[in-house]
Amino acid sequence: MSTTFQLDTATSRANPTPQPMKRLTVPAIKRRKFEGKTEQPLVMLTAYTARQAQLLDTHCDLLLVGDSLGQVIYGLPSSLQVTLDMMCAHGAAVVRGSYHSVVVVDMPFGAYEASPQQAFAAASRIMSETGCAAVKLEGGVAMAETIAFLVARGIPVMAHVGLTPQAVNVLGGYNARGRSQQEHEKIIADGQAVEAAGAFAVVIEGVIEPIAIALTQSLEIPTIGIGASAQCDGQVLVTEDMLGMFDRVPRFVKRYEEIAQVIGKAAEAYAEEVRARTFPGIEQTYQPK
Ligand code: KIV
Repeated sequence: MSTTFQLDTATSRANPTPQPMKRLTVPAIKRRKFEGKTEQPLVMLTAYTARQAQLLDTHCDLLLVGDSLGQVIYGLPSSLQVTLDMMCAHGAAVVRGSYHSVVVVDMPFGAYEASPQQAFAAASRIMSETGCAAVKLEGGVAMAETIAFLVARGIPVMAHVGLTPQAVNVLGGYNARGRSQQEHEKIIADGQAVEAAGAFAVVIEGVIEPIAIALTQSLEIPTIGIGASAQCDGQVLVTEDMLGMFDRVPRFVKRYEEIAQVIGKAAEAYAEEVRARTFPGIEQTYQPK
């Protein structure tokens, strides 16, 4: 089944796909790093809805349906409460709204850690219900067996090491990782383990920069940094963070816009016009012919 969907403009506000374009593939993403170098850094942003995917798609190589949607979309306290149902619904919307980027969907907490078999059941459901190209899971050495199991059964896996938000209760918070020698060595070992297990790329989140540089230089697969280093083979950010939707964002986020202010001003103007009965105006009302 094709994962490129033409939206029905008769019933949707969404723009149609201008012309179906060949979607990037997981092997093409992997090949962008050649002999240890990535000439063109990989661009990844999170997307949770069809319209957001449409707006981001042509600018990105990868769209990540991150479990950060728990906090960003659902107002949950962490990603731990995110369910497989949520990931499937949002993953399918993002695939419908995109035609160029590789769509990667996060495996939610509790859906894959128990065994490779449990992970296969969750990942195969995500892939068949959403049409995404790959799944992402958190963990290094501890998840290597699971990654190998999934890849051997046709499921491309993006790994995620360093600050792994699903382990917030073990880590004790969202601070940068790798400041002790022991933790530094563990994160390097995690990166090496996921590559050996067959992951096609690895997200390195919230680590001191020398770790991100060392992994980028030593791994053959692309590294995608978030709070890591500009020397990674690519970067990812939570779209709402870089758009300025939230007051509080991690230190590693650069705000490229102040969208919260734009929305606030528009809502204020609308409220004033409703209260003054100047909206709807003649252009927005239907008159008898
Ligand atoms: O859930 C997410 O959005 C992520 C990124 C921050 C890498 O995992």
